[in-house]
Amino acid sequence: MTQIKVDKEKCVGCGSCIELCPYKALRMREQKADYFLEACFLCGHCEAVCPVGAVQMATGLSALNLANVVESQSVKTLSSLETADLVSLMRSRRSCRRYKKENVSMSILEDLVKIGTTAPSGTNSQGWNFTILPTRDEVLVLGGRVAEYFKKLNRQAENVLLRTIIKYVGGDSLGRYYRNHYPSVSEALREWEDDGVDRLFHGAPATLLVTGKLSSSCPAEDALLATQNILLAAHSMGLGSCLIGFAVEAMRRDLAIMKKMEIPDGEQIYSVIALGIPAFEFKRPARRRAVLPRVLRFDREN
Ligand SMILES: Cc1cc2nc3c(=O)[nH]c(=O)nc-3n(C[C@H](O)[C@H](O)[C@H](O)COP(=O)(O)O)c2cc1C
Repeated sequence: MTQIKVDKEKCVGCGSCIELCPYKALRMREQKADYFLEACFLCGHCEAVCPVGAVQMATGLSALNLANVVESQSVKTLSSLETADLVSLMRSRRSCRRYKKENVSMSILEDLVKIGTTAPSGTNSQGWNFTILPTRDEVLVLGGRVAEYFKKLNRQAENVLLRTIIKYVGGDSLGRYYRNHYPSVSEALREWEDDGVDRLFHGAPATLLVTGKLSSSCPAEDALLATQNILLAAHSMGLGSCLIGFAVEAMRRDLAIMKKMEIPDGEQIYSVIALGIPAFEFKRPARRRAVLPRVLRFDREN
């Protein structure tokens, strides 16, 4: 099936679509653009750049149909978006570690997923998938499984002989875990079991899992870029969020958790995002290290 249609009556032959096409799927024929491949990777730049609306993609959503956000279809409005506002949004997003008990509505969670999919993706493969844990009950199912994983890991890490054997056979990963995380994880597990304190999800009433299809070209990058969109969009809606790396680690190492969460084979977990209404408001933006990361200026003369 032809994926891109060019209306020859409308086409003014400006060639913009041809110039922008990363796939070289269009060419000029009799001073009109012509799509001559059966398939490209459907980035849609040709449709988006055409000044007269002559190029049309056969597939793909033109609007996200968000339930809670009135979406503008006009890219012109972007010129009114102040960079200062964007920077302020980015800097004021903080990891939220205390939530109110109220649920986040399913329609907001679904909107966040759709907003996530506006991220760039390798060869436009959109290799992300999402699992919504809509209430505290579902979050606790995952939390319980993650706690089981860390209990098992802690039992292994306590074993000096096992740490020594692993060190000589396959590196010091268990030793490093023992030195860096074992004490705090032990304490968190004790609090979880004895006092019902949730140091893993911080009491979040909802969670999003972002997975990537391993068959796509850049599953990790796609999933993490979608994740960042979700974090910022959630923040702009007044929701708090926190990435839960401990849950990612457990799901990667214990495939039974992936199965329990009904994530199909052939997908990897890249982020676990706790979400909810924040119990506290941050009054000041994030600080970052005073020493900037190393930034080199490469000079071809050197
Ligand atoms: C990959 C990754 C994993 C993280 N895992 C956790 C986690 O398991 N628990 C947690 O409370 N915060 C976690 N965080 C949040 C970081 O601690 C937080 O982003 C960092 O301290 C900077 O603070 P900010 O997000 O408020 O700016 C994680 C962040 C990233 C990027």
